[in-house]
Amino acid sequence: MSKKLFIKTWGCQMNVYDSARMADVLAPLGYRPVDEPDGADMVILNTCHIREKAAEKVFSELGRLRILKDEKAAAAGGTAADSSGDGRMILAVAGCVAQAEGEEIVARAPFVDMVFGPQTYHTLPEMVAKATRAAGSVLNTDFPAESKFDFLPEEAVSQGAAAFLAVQEGCDKFCTFCVVPYTRGAEFSRPAAQILLEAKRLAAGGTREISLLGQNVNAWHGDGPDGSTWGLGRLIRELAEIDGVERIRYTTSHPRDMDEELIRAHAEVPQLMPYLHLPVQSGSDRILAAMNRKHSADDYRRLVDRLKTVNPDLALSGDFIVGFPGESDADFAATLKLVSDVGYAQAYCFKYSPRPGTPAALEDRQVPEPVKEERLAALQQLIGAQQVAFNHGFVGRTMKVLFDRVGRRDGQLLGRSPWMQSVHAEANERLLGRIVEVRIVEARPSSLTGVVVTGEHSTTAHSQPAHSLEASA
Ligand code: 5AD
Ligand code: SF4
Repeated sequence: MSKKLFIKTWGCQMNVYDSARMADVLAPLGYRPVDEPDGADMVILNTCHIREKAAEKVFSELGRLRILKDEKAAAAGGTAADSSGDGRMILAVAGCVAQAEGEEIVARAPFVDMVFGPQTYHTLPEMVAKATRAAGSVLNTDFPAESKFDFLPEEAVSQGAAAFLAVQEGCDKFCTFCVVPYTRGAEFSRPAAQILLEAKRLAAGGTREISLLGQNVNAWHGDGPDGSTWGLGRLIRELAEIDGVERIRYTTSHPRDMDEELIRAHAEVPQLMPYLHLPVQSGSDRILAAMNRKHSADDYRRLVDRLKTVNPDLALSGDFIVGFPGESDADFAATLKLVSDVGYAQAYCFKYSPRPGTPAALEDRQVPEPVKEERLAALQQLIGAQQVAFNHGFVGRTMKVLFDRVGRRDGQLLGRSPWMQSVHAEANERLLGRIVEVRIVEARPSSLTGVVVTGEHSTTAHSQPAHSLEASA
């Protein structure tokens, strides 16, 4: 009999990917995804620990779910603690909060049945069996010796026109603000052969765009079938050879791992999209050193110059932290200067939040909250203006759009540009899953509207924006 599975996901694309894989693992046990937790047979909270209040959010969500769990048990005539009854809702906490604070969750919320970290998803069937047999919570925050990727089932055949593919996980960089090396563990690269096989399956199922995922994706390396060691640039070249793979992206990258082969791929592999998420975090050398980023602001500027030289179409997105311990007005001014120099199509800005167990959290020169607020607003204003200018640069231009969803209005499709903008257009549904030339007629801060260009109007791979990013910065 089919059982209802509700998964709520917080955080990064890796978590979105993991949630889909958990659903794949649970499918043979009869679980089918549903859109709401009411009446579900299993609820999984896939959590994120990267910034503040992560655990509090989880506990307040658990408080609400406990009521649903009790209601379900009462409706079935049992009690929530009755582990054998059909009326039971299995409640689980997964992801990075589970990894970091598993024991506290079990202690504070004993009605939770399973608490497990990101490296254990392939053991879900065993954990479910244990949770159904025994009262009390199953806690699993191991970093098992085997790789979960060797044990997870193949992905569901059709992932849609744009799909994620995890190629790398974990991080050895130990930026002083970041929990990832502790919650996701050491850097791990999936074997090239496994990735290529999965990409072929995705393409055969209709996927046209593959986003390679990893916390430090450009640190990926693996043994090629020829016995040599491949880096991400080489992997991308091989992926581009697969029939049906028309677009490739990768995220998230560290500036220090942008090697020459990967840079060249941006010039030479037409399927590699001209859009790169390349976080720098700060524009101040002092702060970059305190963050343990191991590169200077000028190293980053030179890298961006080089990338734009090999591919003038390339646009950047980034991550910034304001109010890192010890950040002065001058340090922050250096960040604004870097943003002005580089010019971003988009960027995420965060107030520094001390994370338990990370070195920066122990710093005594924490920046006061109002200063963080002020800096965040100033940075967001600058980046917002760059984003608007970037998008306006496309009005009147033609670009290739991959239509991957139906729009809210009748007869409208939604797609993605090479630069990750959402593009709305009136279009026939038979264009879903296809890459089509669209002329942009209107730009909004975070989306574009266009009309489908029919016939022989098609142009080269990606047409240029009306003005370059440098000009808009
Ligand atoms: N405080 C604020 N932002 C953080 N990030 C990671 N850790 C912290 C923290 N402690 C941001 C970084 C990273 C992004 C995923 O989250 O900018 O690139
Ligand atoms: Fe965190 Fe730094 Fe690793 Fe990125 S590179 S995951 S910010 S430790």
